Amino acid sequence: MLSFRSGVSNYVSCETWLSRWGETNLCFHEVPLTSSPHPVKIISYEGSTYKTDFWEGQGREFEDRTERLALRQLLPASGHTLIEVGAGFGRLADLYQGYQRVILVDYSTTLLSEAREHLGHDARYMYVAANVYHLPFVDHVADVVVMIRVAHHLAAVDLALAEIYRVMQGGRPFIMEFANKRHLKAIVRYALGKQPWSPFDPFPYEFVPLNFDFHPSWMRQQLMAAGFRVERELAISHFRLPALKRRIPPQWLARLDNALAGPGAWLKLSPSVLTKNVALKPPTSPAGFLRCPACGSQRLVADGSQHTCQECGRSWPIRDGIFDFRYPRPEDAP
Ligand SMILES: C[S@@+](CC[C@H](N)C(=O)[O-])C[C@H]1O[C@@H](n2cnc3c(N)ncnc32)[C@H](O)[C@@H]1O
Repeated sequence: MLSFRSGVSNYVSCETWLSRWGETNLCFHEVPLTSSPHPVKIISYEGSTYKTDFWEGQGREFEDRTERLALRQLLPASGHTLIEVGAGFGRLADLYQGYQRVILVDYSTTLLSEAREHLGHDARYMYVAANVYHLPFVDHVADVVVMIRVAHHLAAVDLALAEIYRVMQGGRPFIMEFANKRHLKAIVRYALGKQPWSPFDPFPYEFVPLNFDFHPSWMRQQLMAAGFRVERELAISHFRLPALKRRIPPQWLARLDNALAGPGAWLKLSPSVLTKNVALKPPTSPAGFLRCPACGSQRLVADGSQHTCQECGRSWPIRDGIFDFRYPRPEDAP
C-alpha cells in the first residue's frame, strides 16, 4: 500500500471542527510534490464492462442524477475547450452541449469506443486515450477540466493535479469529484468499533488496491499545493442507502440531495464531494494543441494513421477515431 507519509517535513496547517468528541484540532503535514513513487501505478479498465456492470440497470439512477445536478451547478454553461479526464464511456458528455470542443480522455480504449458509439455523430467530440499523469496537450489548452469518479483511482493525486493545472487556462475552473473518507457512515462505524481505520486520519485510505478514499482537508491541501483556489464545494450522495433508494423515486431523492449539497459542504458528511477549483495563473493563449506525452515535444507529424514525434521518434496510433497517446503504453504500464 502506498504511504503518503514519506517525506513529511513539518506541519503546515491546522483546522478546528466539531467531531463526535467535541472540538477537534487537526493539523496537516506538508506533503512535497515529489512524495509519490515513480512510475505511478494506474488502474486498467481495458476490456471492462463498467457501463453495464456498474450503471445500466444497477440501481444507481440516484447517484447519476445527483452528480448531474451538482455538475450543472458548477459547470459554466458554455465555453471553447472542455476536457473530461477519465470520461469513461461518456456518461456525462451530454452536459457539455455548450462547448465548441469536448475532449474525452480516458486510459481505456474500450470505454472510449463506447463513448464514440453514442456520440460519434457529433464532430465536437474528440476521443483521446491517455494517462492523466502524461496528458498529450500543450499548456493552457483547456477552458474547463472535469474529473468525476476518477480521483479515487489515483495513487499520486499531486502529480495528476499538477498535470491538469498545466493544461488549464489561468483563471478557469477545474471541477473534480472525490470519495470522502470522513462520511457519516464511516464515522458511525468507527465510533461503534466496527471499522478499524479512522475517518479522521488525514491521509488517503486505500480500501482495495488503487481505490482510495480521501479526507476533504487533505484534498483541499493538494489542490492548493498544485496551484488551485478552491472556489466552491458540494457534498453529494448523502442518500446512497439501499433502503431509501428502494422507497423514494430517484428524481426526488436527487433533488433533496442537491438541496443539501451546498449547506452540507460545511460538514462534508457525504460519501462524495464535488469541488470547483480555479487555476491560479495568468490567462495565456495556448501555443498549439497536441504534444508528445513522453517527451513533451510539439513536433508531432500526423499521417492519418498515427502521430509521430520528431523529437523522440515515438508513434501514437489513431484507431477507429481514437487518438491513442497512452504513456506508458499499456504493455509497459506499472
Ligand atoms: C469509475 S470510472 C468513472 C468514469 C466516468 N468519469 C464516470 O463517472 O462515469 C473511472 C475512469 O477513470 C479512468 N482512469 C483511471 N485512471 C486513469 C488514468 N491514470 N488516466 C486516465 N484515465 C484513468 C478509468 O479508465 C475509468 O474510465
